[in-house]
Amino acid sequence: MKIAIAGTGYVGLVTAVCLAEKGHEIICVDVDERKIDMMQHGKSPIYEDGLEELMHKNIARITYTTDYKSAYKNAEVIFIGVGTPPKKDGSANLKYIWSVVQNILEAVEHDCIVVIKSTVPIDTNDKVEKYFQEYSRENIKVHVVSNPEFLSQGTAVYDTLHASRIVIGTNDKIVAEKMLEVYKNFDSPKIVTDRHSAEMIKYAANNFLALKVSYVNEIANLCEQIGANIDDVVKGIGFDSRIGNRFLQAGIGYGGSCFPKDTRALHWISAFYDKELKTIKAAIEVNEQQKLKLIKKARKYYNSFSGLKIAVLGLTFKPGTDDLREAPSLNNIPIFLEDEASVYAYDPIGVNNFKKYYPREIIYCKTPQEALKGADICFIFTEWKQIKDLTWNDFKLMAEPIILDGRNCFELKKLEKYPLIYESIGRRTINNI
Ligand code: UGA
Repeated sequence: MKIAIAGTGYVGLVTAVCLAEKGHEIICVDVDERKIDMMQHGKSPIYEDGLEELMHKNIARITYTTDYKSAYKNAEVIFIGVGTPPKKDGSANLKYIWSVVQNILEAVEHDCIVVIKSTVPIDTNDKVEKYFQEYSRENIKVHVVSNPEFLSQGTAVYDTLHASRIVIGTNDKIVAEKMLEVYKNFDSPKIVTDRHSAEMIKYAANNFLALKVSYVNEIANLCEQIGANIDDVVKGIGFDSRIGNRFLQAGIGYGGSCFPKDTRALHWISAFYDKELKTIKAAIEVNEQQKLKLIKKARKYYNSFSGLKIAVLGLTFKPGTDDLREAPSLNNIPIFLEDEASVYAYDPIGVNNFKKYYPREIIYCKTPQEALKGADICFIFTEWKQIKDLTWNDFKLMAEPIILDGRNCFELKKLEKYPLIYESIGRRTINNI
């Protein structure tokens, strides 16, 4: 099938290569010439495991262009995978969606299906279809389908090829059949529903997962007070299949481009309908406080960070990605810098992006050991393997081995016999100094 895809970020590009892998003929459209040029030369503009390999493997089935007119003109199906970043009030900014809709309107010459993969507020798909009905050239019918995305960054290719489910939101039987054909080589459960429900499925899923993370973080905070161990508590509840053992990793809060944005957006939507979701409001508040939890712990050891050498291990919002959006490192590092501390940061792939925020203020290190050497305190913000593999031999390079671990990277057993201070989330403090 001839498919065009608008947007070449995590959603757009990953969808493109996976649909090509399943045999479709794909044309990717982006307004960013630099990105298109990179992809034409076989380079992915984002870091994602296995993505470049699939781009190369399917080179004959994917083209990249900024020329939207030629791309949309003959496409049978056009996917929209552009960003919907939050506005100041928490609602989703749909300007990129509308800009693509406008381009499609100008370009299409036949009936086609427009599939919105981006996360959009409830009713957006209806509004877009209405717009096409009103302004499309005579005799051209553009159907709009909601097809939310459930991929996670870091495992995006795998999550798409082996989707937990494929949700198709449309009231039109023929359109639904066509969409089932698009996904016929995907061995995943398929759910056909109306557009509002499809839009809601996406928000409900992400908000539930965010809620789960905030819940476990609150339980972890309580564990610290009452002398319980969150790892054991999670193990104990996770065996209950009604609860499940995933998304119960306590830490310094969720980040990324999705949970923070989608919790705020759903909260905004619920308030708009005068049906405020109190659980989601609480999840957002808990997360905001959680992101600064290590700083509070650190104040026990230093009133001010002034003049200290601080080792920061991990900058990205989670391992496996170079994405920094809403990463806890971005909440914490400004506080260190304000105190005039010297920050030595290590991240295996996030450094180039971090340099866009802090080109000179931070010393970027090639290894964790370089960051740790002579440091007065160490903060861990991301559970990269390179960080989880560290041992006392590495931490003993510090001037004062005070380790504040926001991702529970180490078993307490592993560190408890050494002369260090180790604070993590929801577990007892080791203080052997
Ligand atoms: C999330 C969802 O998991 C995807 O299903 C969804 O498709 C995607 O948003 C989206 O809307 O596009 P993602 O943001 O890539 O995916 O990352 P997650 O793996 O969900 O992690 C989000 C944040 O929660 C990270 O900061 C992570 O460290 C944190 N987290 C996750 C925890 O603190 N504890 C956990 O147990 C799990």
